[in-house]
Amino acid sequence: MAKTITTVISGGLVTALLFGASVNAQDQAHLQERERLLSLIEEVNGDPEKRRIAIREGHQRVSFCSNCHGDDGNSKRPKIPNLAGQNPAYLLEQFDLFADGRRKDFVMQTLAKEFTMEDKINISIYFSNQDVMPDQEIDLLKARHGKELFESVCQFCHGADGKGEAGYARLAGQQKEFMIIALKRYRDNSKAELRPQEVRRTDVRMERVTQHLTDQEIEALANYIASIE
Ligand code: HEC
Ligand code: HEC
Repeated sequence: MAKTITTVISGGLVTALLFGASVNAQDQAHLQERERLLSLIEEVNGDPEKRRIAIREGHQRVSFCSNCHGDDGNSKRPKIPNLAGQNPAYLLEQFDLFADGRRKDFVMQTLAKEFTMEDKINISIYFSNQDVMPDQEIDLLKARHGKELFESVCQFCHGADGKGEAGYARLAGQQKEFMIIALKRYRDNSKAELRPQEVRRTDVRMERVTQHLTDQEIEALANYIASIE
């Protein structure tokens, strides 16, 4: 766990440098706050008693979330992401992005604004400790094509098995339809005809890697990702 967390933080900075994202004072403050929460998560996860309590508290705190994301973070709705097995670094990042409106979704923005520091820690610990249970229908031909694309482009950041150990989003077993929506959102952000208020999600790295993907390639990737156990 300790190793994962260190890789997360330095990985994020290294990527920011490699991919030209500037790190301003506000980003720096965000990074420091996340680093602090991540080390708290690491500390709680390392102590069986504290971990048990955090999972219990987290479970109570997410009772409302389960209507959409499933009680154990396995979503039964194709357009809603699984949270089970997601890594804490990515979860914390998304809470911030929703809370300050950089990622747009009405329900999630409203909810994320209410999270206390304790909520963020307990919720992250609860979901990251749940298992993903893939049960989607996979088009095997598309998945095979998706695997080739994944191995040539995506695994560099999301890991060879798509489990996002380095702190990038875990993709393995994720909802197919949600993947398609997310990838198209990143890809289409730069399209001139799109109005700024329609930009739901931005990320310089994901915008670059999706720029040249066709709809067919996105579907292939989604089938492969959904099939990874
Ligand atoms: C009414 C349905 C609904 C409820 C209730 C809900 N969510 Fe969500 N959540 C969504 C949708 C839809 C998305 C995807 C938004 C998007 O496409 O960007 C999402 C995305 C997320 C993400 C980002 C996941 C990813 O893979 O990018 C996190 C984290 C999250 N929700 C956590 C929560 C938590 C914690 C709660 C409870 C406090 C909650 N959600 C309650 C619908 C819901
Ligand atoms: C240079 C590193 C990098 C590469 C290469 C990369 N990604 Fe990502 N990916 C990221 C980062 C960083 C995020 C989180 C962005 C955010 O917060 O919106 C992300 C997020 C995502 C998400 C959203 C996950 C969720 O749960 O909402 C999907 C889907 C995704 N990537 C798929 C892919 C696919 C498919 C490829 C290959 C075509 C790929 N990525 C290649 C860095 C990368």
